[in-house]
Amino acid sequence: MDQAASLRRLVLEKKTEGSSGTRSIVITSGKGGVGKTSLSVSLSIALAQDGKSVTLVDADLGLANINVILGIIPKYNLYHVIKGKKKLKDIIIDVPEGIRIIAGASGFHQLANLEQKQRDEFISSMSELGNDDYLIIDTGAGISQNVISFIMAADEVIVVTTPEPTAITDAYGIIKAIASQGNDKQIRLIVNRVQSVAEGRRVAQRVINIAGQFLNIKVEELGFVYEDMYVPKSVRNQKPFIVSYPKSKASGCVKVIADRISNKDPELQKGSGLGSFIRNLIGSSNLDGDDQKKA
Ligand SMILES: Nc1ncnc2c1ncn2[C@@H]1O[C@H](COP(=O)(O)OP(=O)(O)O)[C@@H](O)[C@H]1O
Ligand SMILES: [Mg+2]
Repeated sequence: MDQAASLRRLVLEKKTEGSSGTRSIVITSGKGGVGKTSLSVSLSIALAQDGKSVTLVDADLGLANINVILGIIPKYNLYHVIKGKKKLKDIIIDVPEGIRIIAGASGFHQLANLEQKQRDEFISSMSELGNDDYLIIDTGAGISQNVISFIMAADEVIVVTTPEPTAITDAYGIIKAIASQGNDKQIRLIVNRVQSVAEGRRVAQRVINIAGQFLNIKVEELGFVYEDMYVPKSVRNQKPFIVSYPKSKASGCVKVIADRISNKDPELQKGSGLGSFIRNLIGSSNLDGDDQKKA
């Protein structure tokens, strides 16, 4: 059976099971080092502290570090899954912070440049992850086919930038890449490492305006996070800042963002489920035209 056919079958199976209601959210950026991983981890924990069930996937295929931020050394990681040695559901780790994680693998060039077939298999295997309220996917920076595929498969995408002009330009670049895929994915923006509320607003407005003007695409401001020395300090201590410094400025901002994510428009609050993650994936694959129509 060809890949497209097996994916279609998976989708049909999922459809008959009904939608799980899981909201899948990809966290990405144009420029690297803007704080995606630090924010993904603390944001996932903030959602869990709010009573939600969360699985966090380290999909920075090639340069993983969620486990480093959490101070754990997983026995198995995505390398074993992509090599076919383990199933995704077998490598889920429950961490004391109250979330479940899928650890990534570092230093494997092959992971950073998956073939289409491997990528599709991997993304579709995410349906094994069960019925959590949230599936948060931390990606690598930049416009790779891996990242674009994750974005296209998910319900929502959060783009992280900092006030640096290079980060803003690259945020625009990734938004443009998403827009060029021609779907109306909801794109929201977090401005990290700001010195003031005004700075956060200014940067967000700039991105929103240029995306609206040049790409005719709507980007929403999700929030900002202050520049805060407790963030790097927590990375060094390998304990997420929301746990070790819950009263820090960065933690306060992340809690506001978590509230916004869970209290948004009730229509959008219910995720479309992991079945749709796969349907979206198929829609974005390079299948032949006939397959695309059927999918
Ligand atoms: N709000 C912040 N204040 C201060 N430093 C931050 C903040 N957010 C991230 N950093 C620092 O930036 C660096 C890169 O963060 P990381 O989360 O690894 O980025 P990415 O995943 O986007 O590559 C880390 O050393 C982290 O401590
Ligand atoms: Mg990262």
